[in-house]
This record gives sequence, structure tokens and C-alpha cells, in this order.
Amino acid sequence: MALGRTLAVSPLGMSGHLVEVEAHLAASVPGFTLVGLPDTALAESRDRVRAAITSSGLGWPQRRITVNLSPASLPKAGSGFDLAIAVAMLAGAGVVDASRTAGVVHLGELALDGRLRPVRGVLPAVSAAVAAGRPRVVVPEANAAEALLVPGADVVAAQTLAEVAFRHGADIPRPERTAAPPPGPPPERPPVPDLADVLGQHEARAALEVAAAGGHHLLMVGPPGAGKTMLAARMPGLLPDLSDDDAVEVTAVHSVAGTFDPAGGLLRRPPFEDPHHTATAAAIIGGGSGVPRPGAASRAHRGVLFMDEAPEFSPGVLQTLRQPLEHGELVIQRAGGAARYPARFQLVLAANPCPCGKAVGKGLGCVCPPVVRRRYWSRLSGPLLDRVDLQVEVHAVSRVQIGGTEAGEATDAVAARVRSARARQAERLAGTPWRTNAEVPGHWLRASLGADRSLMADLDRALDRGALSLRGVDRVLRVAWTLADLAGRPTPRRSDIGQGLLLRTRGQVSA
Ligand SMILES: Nc1ncnc2c1ncn2[C@@H]1O[C@H](COP(=O)(O)OP(=O)(O)O)[C@@H](O)[C@H]1O
Ligand SMILES: [Mg+2]
Ligand SMILES: [Zn+2]
Repeated sequence: MALGRTLAVSPLGMSGHLVEVEAHLAASVPGFTLVGLPDTALAESRDRVRAAITSSGLGWPQRRITVNLSPASLPKAGSGFDLAIAVAMLAGAGVVDASRTAGVVHLGELALDGRLRPVRGVLPAVSAAVAAGRPRVVVPEANAAEALLVPGADVVAAQTLAEVAFRHGADIPRPERTAAPPPGPPPERPPVPDLADVLGQHEARAALEVAAAGGHHLLMVGPPGAGKTMLAARMPGLLPDLSDDDAVEVTAVHSVAGTFDPAGGLLRRPPFEDPHHTATAAAIIGGGSGVPRPGAASRAHRGVLFMDEAPEFSPGVLQTLRQPLEHGELVIQRAGGAARYPARFQLVLAANPCPCGKAVGKGLGCVCPPVVRRRYWSRLSGPLLDRVDLQVEVHAVSRVQIGGTEAGEATDAVAARVRSARARQAERLAGTPWRTNAEVPGHWLRASLGADRSLMADLDRALDRGALSLRGVDRVLRVAWTLADLAGRPTPRRSDIGQGLLLRTRGQVSA
């Protein structure tokens, strides 16, 4: 009996496990069995591998073929095992040199004509291979740029199965390569719009700056046309570049999601995701057959998840956000195990004040029955709003005001203040599990205010009046720390707490 071996990677969430692919070829009644493969995409692999080998002119071995993927206990999904299965078989049949294939990782889906198709999740798969001490990887050409982003990887790019076989010593004419398209300039990532475009809106701009500086979640409530969507889209521009580790992690999420274009290199800017309010829970948290795709909440990892018209999202979707808001990750349960994707995003919510949109100020123009208004707001349940430190009203800027208002401060200037505020937090929070004020729990905030009880006086009064809940007090304190960081003060002072109270003008919604 002849034996061929090679390696592949089974992706699971953000990690991957090396899988050994073994092909046994016995001189018996011809047949082809794949052992222990629950996923249907993988079962279809059998047909693709057979067609690809035949059409590549490599000859289908007339043997009893058994392909085994081990360890058997690992869940295996997706079409990325095609190439490894074909290579193991060719090694077992003696078509390629078995000693050359054994320690090499092969990733890629096969088209029926033998071409190699790119697969999702190459970045985490190659990282896993390198981490397991198997840096040599063969990938479809379309995935090569992405695989090359992994430090230490020894990447071979191939266009076809025949090309891979030739490299591994198959006795066939050198396959012709289709000329690669000339490398163009890296793709233009859509430019992030600038804050200079926003006229007036001093309070809303301040709220946006504080949110960016302290990592706070933000709710903006205002009538249609007030500029909520416009402001939210400018949030990522205020956030600092991703650290190296974060850049790799964010890029890996987008690699698995299939939303990453490697030509521009690692993703260095915080992502911005704005799912529509009709989105399903799966679209937000992730799912799908085979290798589960990360949803919008994970694609927004280390960036901004913007939910426009937030109360219009289905209650189920809003409920599912509690898990990532609490734990910073999403766990998608699968028959074969749980896929974990990070999901530590900044939540920006926009909402009309009521379904008709007119309940602003005294709300005189609003035609919504009170019960309708209550139901509208009850969707953004307490547990969700409890985590939103900044809750502000945004008022429409009148045309007269726009006419007389000069351009607002530009993104660059605001982003510079945000950067130094973040640096102060990093210094103060060094050695804690938290990076930004938004993550710091209330007791720690209160303790670090020190003995100056006078600072708490205003908050105590608001608490006594019933204008603030205890959680509300913590939210104001977190914001006050961020205001102090923005102003370059070592601790908040009374005015920061006053300003913190003002930055929750929608307090009545959730207090
Ligand atoms: N403060 C502002 N400065 C400049 N343009 C504004 C401002 N507010 C609103 N606009 C204009 O009105 C449009 C609608 O704003 P939008 O952000 O969609 O409002 P909302 O999301 O609150 O309904 C914007 O595209 C922009 O052209
Ligand atoms: Mg809008
Ligand atoms: Zn109304």
C-alpha cells in the first residue's frame, strides 16, 4: 500500500489547527473515500479533487483511495482542504515526490479545471501554520499577498494544481503561468469624511471628541436631518491608528469575513461598520454554513459599530449586542466547537426622538401616542443603554445658522487631542486590564478620585433628586476623567463633572 501525506489548516474562529492529510492507495477495487468529514462543502471536495486531477493531465490512480484527515476530533469545514487532499493523493500515487509534500501546508480550493481558488481566512491559517513550526505554505496566488503579511511565513503562490505538482517533482511539462496583472497602485480605501464639513454643532462635536478620546459608546438623539449620520461617519477619523497587534487581529477578522483586500497591506485604521436596521442577528453577530463568517460587530473590532435608527433594529438583534459589549467577543456555537471572534467596538447609536421624529425640545409637534413613543424607546433596553456613557441630543442647525457659520475644526486637529488623551489613559491604566476610561469599572473610578469628596457633591445631589441612577453616576465619572485627559489635567475637577452631566442630556431615557 502506498501512502502520501501533507498538511492543511482547519480554521476555527480566529485560530487554526494543523490537520494532517493522509492518502492511502491500495491495489483493490477502485474507489475514493474521505474519512470523517462532517461538513458538506468538504464532502463535495471529493468531486472537485477528482475533476481537477483529471483535467490537469495528472492521471487519476485506478486504486482504492482512502483520504484521512486527522485529528478526527477537530471540526473541519470549508473548501480550503481541496489542494491538500489532491497533493496527498498525488504523493501516495507516486506522481509527486512524497518526501517533498509531507511537511508543507497546502491551502486552497480547486476549480474543476484545476485552477486554484482563493479561500477566506488565509491570514489566521498561515499564522497558525507558522506558530505550529510549519512555515512553508502553498497558497492560491490570489491569497499570496495576504499570506505574506504573516511574519516568518515561507509562501509559495500557485495558480493551478499542475503548477503545485510540477514544483513537487511531477514529471509533466512546466505549466504555463497566466501573466499576473501588473501591480497597480494599492486600492484607495474610501476616504474618511472630515469633521470640517460639519457646520455649527458645538455640543455634538464635543460629544464625538469625548467619545473618541475615552472610548465611550455614544447615543445621539435628534430629528431627521440634524446631522447624526454625518457626525457618526466622522468618528473613525478621530481614532488613533491601530497598534501592530490590533492591526493583525483586525485584518484576520476581515480575512475570515472575506472583506479584506490584501493589496493595501494590514488594516491600520479603525474599521467602521454601519449595518442597516433591517439586518438579521446573524448579519450582526456572524454565522453561515461552513466556516462561520464574522458579522458586523466583529468586523467593527477596534473600530466603530454605527447603528443608525437604532430603535428600528429588531429586539433580537439589540439583545445579541449584550454579549460583545460585556465580553468583547462573540462566540458562534457549532456542532464541531465554538468559533470565537473578537468584537470590542465602540458603539455609536443614532435615533429619532420618536417614530414621527418631532418630539424634540418641548415636543409640541409630535403626533405619536405616548404608548408608541414608550415602545419605541423600550427597544433600546436598559442593559444596552446602561453601557452608553454619552447620551446627547442633536439639534438641527438652521439654514440661517449654516449661512453664518464658518467651517468647523478639521479632523486632524481633533484627532491630535484625542491621541494625547489616549496616551494619558494608557499611562494611568498601565498594568490594569483596561485601555480607555470607558472600560474602567465604577469602584475604581471612585477610589481613584481620592479623598476630594467635594467633587462628588454635585453627583450626590443629582442622585438624591433621582435625576441620576448609581450607574449614571459611574457614567458621568468616566466621562469626567476623559474630559480631564483631554484638558491635560491629572484628575477631574468640578467643572469636568458638570460637563459630564451635560453630556448626557438624554439622561431621562435610561436613568
Ligand atoms: N451641521 C451640519 N453641517 C453641514 N451639513 C449638515 C449639517 N447637518 C446636516 N447637514 C446636511 O444634512 C444632511 C442630512 O444629515 P444627516 O447626517 O443624514 O442627518 P440625520 O442622520 O440626523 O438624519 C447631510 O448630508 C448634510 O448635507
Ligand atoms: Mg441619519
Ligand atoms: Zn413623534
